[in-house]
Amino acid sequence: MESSELLEKLRQKQLHALSGGGEEKIRKQHEAGKLTARERIFQLLDPDTFVEIDRFKTHRCTDFDMADQKIPGDGVVTGYGMIHGRQAFVFAQDFTVLGGSLSLAHAEKIAKIMKTAMKTGSPVIGLCDSGGARIQEGVTSLAGYGDIFLLNVMASGVVPQITAIMGPSAGGAVYSPALTDWIFMVEKTGHMFITGPEVIKAVTREVVSKEDLGGAMAHNAKSGVAHFSAPDDSACLEMIRGLMSFLPQNNMEDPPRSATQDDPMRRDESLRDIVPPDPNKPYDIRGIVRSNMDDGYFFEVHQHWAQNIVIGFARLDGMPVGVVANQPCVMAGCLDIDASIKGARFVRFCDAFNIPLIVYEDVPGFLPGTHQEHGGIIKHGAKLIYAFCEATVPRITIITRKAYGGAYIVMNSKHIRGDINLAYPGAEIAVMGAEGAVNIISRKEIESSATPEEERHQRITDYREKFSNPYRAAELGYIDDVIDPADTRPQLIQSLKMLRTKRDMNPPKKHGNIPL
Ligand code: HXC
Repeated sequence: MESSELLEKLRQKQLHALSGGGEEKIRKQHEAGKLTARERIFQLLDPDTFVEIDRFKTHRCTDFDMADQKIPGDGVVTGYGMIHGRQAFVFAQDFTVLGGSLSLAHAEKIAKIMKTAMKTGSPVIGLCDSGGARIQEGVTSLAGYGDIFLLNVMASGVVPQITAIMGPSAGGAVYSPALTDWIFMVEKTGHMFITGPEVIKAVTREVVSKEDLGGAMAHNAKSGVAHFSAPDDSACLEMIRGLMSFLPQNNMEDPPRSATQDDPMRRDESLRDIVPPDPNKPYDIRGIVRSNMDDGYFFEVHQHWAQNIVIGFARLDGMPVGVVANQPCVMAGCLDIDASIKGARFVRFCDAFNIPLIVYEDVPGFLPGTHQEHGGIIKHGAKLIYAFCEATVPRITIITRKAYGGAYIVMNSKHIRGDINLAYPGAEIAVMGAEGAVNIISRKEIESSATPEEERHQRITDYREKFSNPYRAAELGYIDDVIDPADTRPQLIQSLKMLRTKRDMNPPKKHGNIPL
């Protein structure tokens, strides 16, 4: 064959592959408010950087007339490209081809890019839009999922893994996203569930819509399975790019520094009044976080779930940091089951990928109640302790107000390897709040006093003076310094610079046994 003919044949094959499930299916995809797999990849990556792999791969199934239904690429577009000039591997399931269902060939394509991503130390981003296991293939499709799960686990802590749910994700197929680090969901079109509404109705008679069961807000606000919710595909892809700007390529690299015009010595005197002196008055901790961080920018993660703890990424003098903060304006910032799980997973991600931790502490303790106790707050709270204890990245704590009891220890205290621990002058570091303490240790004296209320008041004042301040802890070296809140940003940046060369290690072991 002439070379021109060969090239024409190649061009035809390429066009066939590019057309996915065909015009009609693409029209339907757009009508549903969804982009196609390729459109998604092009929006996600820097312009003109996508290199496709396995464009011509097809399934090998012959049952159910499948031999006649071979579309090059077999329902998933895979390859690599750049995000902010850094390499990332990507797969996008193509719902226009057999509903994006997963055949063994489809799974092999995903596995191939995952293996290459691990070899080259590059993040993997999966854009999911799939009817799940290719029903016509039977067990070979299930084998494909098994291969992907294994690779998800092997890649965990080696390269960042990100998933976007941009269509259906049902049955055991949800476990690959669940094994990745971050899950984005698109509102109205993204759904995740182990069993769908019909099965639930048949088994339990419960009637629930797809959206209420496994839509973006169900998983962002109720289950905590998803970390981000986006109004549409384009917004979702832009958010993924935003997250990527904070992450290193792999566990051997530091996160990417970016230039900033924000003065590292910038002070903010308004911080002196942001924390109400009344320990029972709430305030939004994000006000302090934004004031401290470069350009006031805070990329919040898991915004809708366990809002009594705030987590997210930001930069200090260009250096990405992970922020963990008690949130006094939600449940007084108490630690409960969900907050502990949310905080622990974030701390472990940051530690795995060399992202320093900045902890803001204002916590009255763990949430009391049978619901929490019987729900396992003991083992879930232990997750947060475990995560901080094992973390070897630079760790800085600012105690803005309350640091009571076990929660004082948990929130990155000196005792569990916090590197720099600072407190505001109004901080209260004690076993518990003054009122609670006096009720316990001075009950008899108050009851037997001729003026019990005056006695209580006096004892509360005495206790506050003695214990509800940062100086007792500072005298013992549990706090490195008590600072003017206006100086928080310069103090954080100075500490972070000092810790840049920090090296710390845990004893060699196969792996720890985090309380699950
Ligand atoms: C083969 C599938 C398919 C599947 C959809 N299609 N899912 N083909 N295997 N799993 C095909 C349809 O036949 C149809 O083909 C096309 O994709 C589009 O599907 P529609 O049903 O027309 O689209 P829609 O109405 O939007 O509904 C989408 C859907 C529904 C909600 C995903 O198709 C559905 O419920 N599919 C089955 C989901 C499922 O139960 N999967 C198995 C989960 S268990 P044509 O040719 O008509 O266009 C699982 C196990 C994993 O995945 C275990 C891992 C350990």
